[in-house]
Amino acid sequence: MSNESNNQSNSSTPDLSNFWMPFTANRQYKAAPRLFKAAKGMYYTSSDDRQVLDATAGLWCVNAGHGRTEIVEAVSKQLATMDFAPTFQMGHPLAFEAASKVAELMPTGLDRIFFTNSGSESVDTALKIALAYHRARGEGQRTHFIGRERGYHGVGFGGISVGGIGGNRKTFSGNLLPHVDHLPHTYNHAETAFTRGQPNWGAHLADDLERIVALHDPSTIAAVIVEPLAGSTGVLVPPKGYLQKLREICTKHGILLVFDEVITGFGRLGKATASEYFGVTPDLLTMAKAINNASVPMGAVAAGRHVHDAVVNAAPENAIEFFHGYTYSAHPAAAAAAIATLDLYKRDNLFERANGLAATFENAVHELRTSHHVKDIRNLGLVAGIELESRPGAPGARAYEAFVKCFERGLLVRYTGDILAFSPPLIIDEAQIDQIFSTVRDVLKDVA
Ligand SMILES: Cc1ncc(COP(=O)(O)O)c(C=O)c1O
Repeated sequence: MSNESNNQSNSSTPDLSNFWMPFTANRQYKAAPRLFKAAKGMYYTSSDDRQVLDATAGLWCVNAGHGRTEIVEAVSKQLATMDFAPTFQMGHPLAFEAASKVAELMPTGLDRIFFTNSGSESVDTALKIALAYHRARGEGQRTHFIGRERGYHGVGFGGISVGGIGGNRKTFSGNLLPHVDHLPHTYNHAETAFTRGQPNWGAHLADDLERIVALHDPSTIAAVIVEPLAGSTGVLVPPKGYLQKLREICTKHGILLVFDEVITGFGRLGKATASEYFGVTPDLLTMAKAINNASVPMGAVAAGRHVHDAVVNAAPENAIEFFHGYTYSAHPAAAAAAIATLDLYKRDNLFERANGLAATFENAVHELRTSHHVKDIRNLGLVAGIELESRPGAPGARAYEAFVKCFERGLLVRYTGDILAFSPPLIIDEAQIDQIFSTVRDVLKDVA
């Protein structure tokens, strides 16, 4: 029981004091809370019974839309049949079936699937697999990781170390992983503002990898990790040719390339993966979120056969090959949800649907080019970012105000710094796309 509750409970607002909220301005939020109580299709229902259009698929994760009966039934059935089974030296069929279905959607060759429970765990797992791979091949001196400025790879110590967000690193700066360097981010306002899709400018930024590799010596570098499209720091679309160059440089020096596809996986760009969309195949691919429509926590790493086989074949017979795993790796309920979700994506052709809507989405967001405060607009697939001019001395305040006003007018958007981000469920229709951007346009008129 809370003895220091600072909120009076009533029928719609619970006591808010005990839940220390993640990535939230707790005091600001608790002074004026926003609560959802139900969700179906494209809409949330707020605690005051308003329908709120979900322009963010929850947190970039509910790609098939909310409350899908097929997923709900699969999870309920599984929990009633077998709530939990260990996957350490034991197994259950759905774990293997889910892995096969995920593998089917991965780029050719990345068909060995290690399950986790979140994007952060997927990233740390991928980094560990990279170290294990080099060690298995007699190159245990490859311990360096290279991330990128403005990269977001979750909140594990591995993820914040390779990540490039100052605010996520500062408090923990004395304890980050050693042997980490960062590529420059790919955003340049002067060169690329208001680009539709991939910018023509910026592929040369990948050449910096050669400089970093030379500095540390190629023989010391284990892996390069990037988001193919950076979402969390405000929708940074890769320049044309950039990812291809990273791939070439990694291959040349025997470095593993990791794509963090936690938000780009499962249809966000109109293909199963960003890797498929860009035609660039990494050695390891991290995923989570839409893997099972975010209905039960789950993540995974898809490993190239060469990576998996090197690790597994190097171990003595009958020995555990990779000392890593989670109690809930391939939890039966999460696995059931993944199978039902991946079937649903296929049955309803949701990736093709996203692909078909991308041009409409692009046109709609770029119509806001002349709206108040707009500094830049970026987009690809069903992702868009609108960057606002920051209020002098108050970075982030304008986007926060826009976010709150959107919510009051029945629209859920996401904001990061002064950037509004949009990533709706792939079931969105044209009228709802229009509703998103006409609401934002009206809100921007009202924002100081
Ligand atoms: C690219 C990327 N990696 C990792 C993560 C972390 O995922 P999680 O919050 O499930 O740990 C996220 C979350 O948004 C992400 O966008």
